[in-house]
Amino acid sequence: MTIAERRAGLACLPPITLDQVVDDPEAMRALARRSGPYEFPPRPGGFVWPTWHARWASGGALHLDAAEPLFNHPAFIAAAADMCGSNNVIPEALNVNLGTPWIAQPVMHTDMPLFRGIDEETVPGWFLQSMGTSRLFEAERINSITAVAWFYEGERGGFTFWPDGPAGESQGQIDMWNTAIVGDNDFMYHRVERIGPDAATSPSAMTTATVLDHDGDDWVVIDDGRELGRFVDRDVRLSISWRATVNDDDDASVSLAAVYDRMRTHLADGDLIATSVDDLFDEPSRQQLMHRWPGFLPVST
Ligand SMILES: [Fe+2]
Repeated sequence: MTIAERRAGLACLPPITLDQVVDDPEAMRALARRSGPYEFPPRPGGFVWPTWHARWASGGALHLDAAEPLFNHPAFIAAAADMCGSNNVIPEALNVNLGTPWIAQPVMHTDMPLFRGIDEETVPGWFLQSMGTSRLFEAERINSITAVAWFYEGERGGFTFWPDGPAGESQGQIDMWNTAIVGDNDFMYHRVERIGPDAATSPSAMTTATVLDHDGDDWVVIDDGRELGRFVDRDVRLSISWRATVNDDDDASVSLAAVYDRMRTHLADGDLIATSVDDLFDEPSRQQLMHRWPGFLPVST
């Protein structure tokens, strides 16, 4: 499989599963315990659910020296190179995610894609996802491969993915201890399953400022100095998300005006609600584009 085949209509590049990520997975949990506190990532609408994060690397720069073996992980880089048929794999980001018990995500999603000329500094994340799903901007896409690694021995917490597209059969990863899937996650829909026991609920009264930290004994959910919840280490799901760009020969970039024109041309004349780039991000336009080219889809169970 190649990026050219993906451009020709393949749902996504086939994922690669790794059965062992590091020699000492307990050391990864110890690193996470001592590297808090963790905050919520920015989420649209101020919605909160109990998964916190930290950026151990971003923009190609490592922020936590102890995470270097993961950032420059040879097997992640080799798998990304294999998937794309390119040796030009450049690690860009390393995020750590920590989740306390909660229901399965109600939607499957693709990750936020990257494009030359347009990024999350200039347009909303949902718009980037619509650009990606539309596949109208493949020449300007910055190819990106993601590895998600897990270090979790608690109940459930699996990962489901749709390598044949959202209407195809799903596959599930259920061994979450020191395993990883290197995936084309800007194209491959995926979701996190339930974490912990059935009917588990998140701590009440959480706000966008609620943090998660380890106090030497347990993981503690804290908001404005107040303890909202407490979890033993085993019950907190730890995953690491690694992202690399994979360069190809394209160097085309796209302006927002060109994005608008291409979307308008692709849809039947007059079908695009936005009348110019000025109202492209307004609510009616957002609704239309997210429906037409969704980055999120409901999961039928
Ligand atoms: Fe994702």
